Amino acid sequence: MKFEVFVFLIIKYNYMCGIIGYLGKKPVVPILLSGLKRLEYRGYDSAGICIRENDALRIIKKEGPIKMIEAKLNGLQFTSQTGIAHTRWATHGRPNEINAHPHSDCTGKISIVHNGIIENFQALKKLLEREGHTIKSETDSEIIAHLIEKFYTNNLEEAVVRAIKLLEGTFGLAVMSASENKIVAVRRGSPLILGIGEGEIFVASDASAVIEYTQQVVYLKDNEIATITENGYSLKNINGESLNGEITEIKWTVDEIEKDGFKHFMLKEIFEQPKTVANTLRGRLGSREIKISVNLNPKIIDKIIITACGTSWHSSLIGKYLIEKIAGIPVEVDYASEYRYRSHIVGPNNLLVVVSQSGETADTLGALREIKNCETLGIVNIVGSTISREVNSGIYLHAGPEIGVASTKAFTSQVTALILLALYFKKERTGILDQELVAELLMIPEEIQGLLNQADKIKEIAKNLTAAKNILYLGRGINFPVALEGALKLKEVSYIHAEGYPAAEMKHGPIALIDENMFVVFIINHGPIFEKIISNMQEVKARGGKIIAICDLENDVIKKLADYIIMVPAVSEELSPLINIIPLQLLAYYVADLNGINVDKPRNLAKSVTVE
Ligand code: F6R
Repeated sequence: MKFEVFVFLIIKYNYMCGIIGYLGKKPVVPILLSGLKRLEYRGYDSAGICIRENDALRIIKKEGPIKMIEAKLNGLQFTSQTGIAHTRWATHGRPNEINAHPHSDCTGKISIVHNGIIENFQALKKLLEREGHTIKSETDSEIIAHLIEKFYTNNLEEAVVRAIKLLEGTFGLAVMSASENKIVAVRRGSPLILGIGEGEIFVASDASAVIEYTQQVVYLKDNEIATITENGYSLKNINGESLNGEITEIKWTVDEIEKDGFKHFMLKEIFEQPKTVANTLRGRLGSREIKISVNLNPKIIDKIIITACGTSWHSSLIGKYLIEKIAGIPVEVDYASEYRYRSHIVGPNNLLVVVSQSGETADTLGALREIKNCETLGIVNIVGSTISREVNSGIYLHAGPEIGVASTKAFTSQVTALILLALYFKKERTGILDQELVAELLMIPEEIQGLLNQADKIKEIAKNLTAAKNILYLGRGINFPVALEGALKLKEVSYIHAEGYPAAEMKHGPIALIDENMFVVFIINHGPIFEKIISNMQEVKARGGKIIAICDLENDVIKKLADYIIMVPAVSEELSPLINIIPLQLLAYYVADLNGINVDKPRNLAKSVTVE
């Protein structure tokens, strides 16, 4: 059994895919290919093009990065000047040719590319199948082509309008028909622009795909329908009324567009977290159940072993606290590189959980392959990755491609998935769904957004750390791994030596390091150990150390002791790592950036470590 088994439980999300379309006087295939290459940063597990030649549509698709479709197209002859193309980053279902876009209807005369999610696709699929349509792929997108086919009577625009009236969810859509030399484009909740050139019009999911041809763009608004023909384009609303569409001149470079205006991917990904955490939760929180599934009866699981590397190991440590506290199942956590080479005491009622953003980390995969006699579950971001294929069951993160080498949004999504897993085990074992925690969890994206709004304040604090040589990060309980992760982020991107420690362990050694040059970051949350961490702060202050407190409680003693305070919202202990890590990620980013480091590509590091 694989991740795909749980597709029905997961609302589908392919918002990170890329669309490019062209109608003009130039050969379309090179334009589509260059657009796809520009959009490759949005994800690239499969790609495809559809062109119109001799009143017929020709679709060519290929699994893998853009260079694979490029190779497939190489040497083929094309005369077409109209086409649409798509690069996909799957968030469910295997990345293969059938699931790749463009998708077509039963006749092959309608073709679509789609970004977004059709929430009611199951109902529409049943309806279409009852009417005799054959749906070939596992995607929600394909049903759009069949709906348009259903309504098509020689007017593509009219059929698209009728079809989208039935769609629930989000879409950026470009549609072609064999019978008309047109592209119809429409959006709801998923970005789409028109690029206006000399005798040529482009449609794209973002301006980076067209900027080498034109800087004049029209940003489509929700439910606006653009019809592109040889005579130009027209814009209408869903009621058929004509619109003017404002032309904007793009002043951004390609690099700026890809990063959404952020200086680095790392910063963009930090700021994406309200959305990515929401995506990990989406479709999995029912009113009476947690909609995930594990290939072993939760009632009989007697031990969970979690194995991972780096940041994923830190989220796994948080997972231990969560599962033990919420579900009462003992959990062991091991570095995959260690676990794979030691004796494994594993029983049939144990569950091995492997956590990996990439799903390709050699040590994590090696550990997974070592364990033969228990069920396995993957918590993975990249759909179709090796780990996702080799586990018995899994939870995809739906965090979108993580491009910055230092992992940020994958971490918060991993913690979110582990919270869901803990809640699921508790529900299955005791029948109790922790409604209060679920309600609070749903508010976390908003709380993260509130914290991100304080980024400037954190940047100011970061200015004081740029010359630091050593920084200690201290936290306790579930926030000890957050201290580890905060320290890892800092050392990875700023090259400043940083250590994470459980706050109470400081007196057993690291306290010797404290002097007036030492910064100590404390994570201090309300609760039974609040006062104890204050004592640790006093120990640091007495030795001249400088304190940065990440704190969820106004407190006069902390005000006196701390040199800098970053206030965070008070949430339940179980959810606090999702909050506390945000200022630490920002702190690491700003310290590194202020020191002029290329944060997205720190020295000596690779995004995916596929060697031992
Ligand atoms: C740190 C970081 C690495 C990865 C580690 C595991 O920012 O990105 O420590 O977490 O290499 O990678 P995955 O999660 O892909 O298995």
